[in-house]
Amino acid sequence: MHTDVHSHVIWGVDDGAKDRAETFRMLREAVEDGIRTIICTPHMMPGIYAFPEETFQEHLREAAEFIRKEQLPLRLLRGAEILYTDHVPRMLMEGRIPTMAGSNLLLVEFSPADTLSAITNALQRISGLGYVPVIAHMERYPAIRRKEQVTEIRNRFRALVQINAGSLIHKQPLLRRRYFDDLFRENLVDFVATDTHALPGRGSCMTEGMDALGRRYGEAVLRKLESKQDTFTAEREFSR
Ligand SMILES: [Fe+2]
Repeated sequence: MHTDVHSHVIWGVDDGAKDRAETFRMLREAVEDGIRTIICTPHMMPGIYAFPEETFQEHLREAAEFIRKEQLPLRLLRGAEILYTDHVPRMLMEGRIPTMAGSNLLLVEFSPADTLSAITNALQRISGLGYVPVIAHMERYPAIRRKEQVTEIRNRFRALVQINAGSLIHKQPLLRRRYFDDLFRENLVDFVATDTHALPGRGSCMTEGMDALGRRYGEAVLRKLESKQDTFTAEREFSR
């Protein structure tokens, strides 16, 4: 059974689910995909646009109500996928940015155009404020392409690494495959998540992704990652 720490399942707040029916379909799909906990992580772009918090809360409540009525074995937790902007540190200090399920983990994404120094500066600020940055879809940043860079980021800023399950299924360019080989074999990945958007090709594919991971890297690597995910979710009190 899986925890999906990155999902755009809640409708009407970003480019994820478009309407209530789509959310409900995605919730069923997640259960079929072996997911039992979803951290709902809509895009937030601090300082670029105001997040529709009330709409999100309302839709989250409705989704939870649907789960209860349908008796689905699934729980939804609150999170957000934060695009790093200069506004983030101040808003973090003001408590205006949701973490992953009330923990001290912050799911953060960067622009693919960001340089390594822009990314490390951001991570330094986040970690300096006492948060643990979880880098969303680490495979997307051209500035970070070597395991040494990932190791350094992990060591210096306590940063954690999330990879999209879809990237493990769809054929990747050779360089990215090698990058994945290094990261997974050296235990440098903390979360595999769906980042589901309800778009064609971006549905719930956790089981498929984990199976692909097991086939390529072996059961030992798969189990290690699963137990790491379980430990984090338990330790960080992912219960709210
Ligand atoms: Fe996302």
